[in-house]
Amino acid sequence: MNEAPPQGIDKAAGKIQAMFSRIAPRYDLLNRLLSGGTDVAWRNEAARLLSPRAGEIHLDLCSGTGDLALAVAKRSGGRARVVAADFTFEMLAIGQEKFRRRGAGIPETGADGLHLPFPDRTFDGATAAFGVRNFEDLDRGLGELWRVLKPGGRLVVLEFTPEPTGPLAPIVRFHVKTLVPFLGRLVSKDASAYQYLPDSVGRWPAPEALAARMRSAGFAAVDIHLLAFGIAAAHVARKGAP
Ligand SMILES: C[S@@+](CC[C@H](N)C(=O)[O-])C[C@H]1O[C@@H](n2cnc3c(N)ncnc32)[C@H](O)[C@@H]1O
Repeated sequence: MNEAPPQGIDKAAGKIQAMFSRIAPRYDLLNRLLSGGTDVAWRNEAARLLSPRAGEIHLDLCSGTGDLALAVAKRSGGRARVVAADFTFEMLAIGQEKFRRRGAGIPETGADGLHLPFPDRTFDGATAAFGVRNFEDLDRGLGELWRVLKPGGRLVVLEFTPEPTGPLAPIVRFHVKTLVPFLGRLVSKDASAYQYLPDSVGRWPAPEALAARMRSAGFAAVDIHLLAFGIAAAHVARKGAP
């Protein structure tokens, strides 16, 4: 099943790469600023849900500047191997420098999530934070993640949700739709990138719908963990036995 890109949003690989290469130098700063530091807690929670163990090998896809790869390595006490993959060189370069400074032995691979350069059944686990929303073909990307996981392998997908609910929902909506594009434009000097964020989140499947897409890709036991009043969700899934 191919996903037609949502109307009005061009998710062609070249456009997505160009956007992330432009914002790479300010990406970490803006993450901390726009989320008030909550993004760090979300990645730590994703690593906890993955629960990496000694001797395992994990893939952090759409790794960008590498924060989730680092959280996974830390969570395992440095005893699991972590591979960081992304298709934007400028994001990976910042991650590589970060890994070097922290003495983390995390190899990086330039890889398109829709055509992963890994053999079937390579990884014990995989993560993707704020990445799969950018895929031109979500189902193909989920299928690739399924393919490279070993039977029983775990997947944690961290993403924003399109419609946060609860008492803080109006504030969250104002934050995402108005403040994020405004501050993003101010700091990154890139109007379109931080308009893309609320636009793509607004058209993203709700947690239950994403869980259904993951099940269609072959994953079993998909659990949804809502984070921060439902602003974000971690989907935890398992590749069933063959
Ligand atoms: C919003 S950033 C998230 C980075 C990091 N995971 C984090 O939590 O900060 C999205 C990343 O996904 C990458 N990306 C988007 N589409 C991709 C694809 N098809 N293949 C590989 N990487 C992709 C972008 O290059 C970018 O680095």
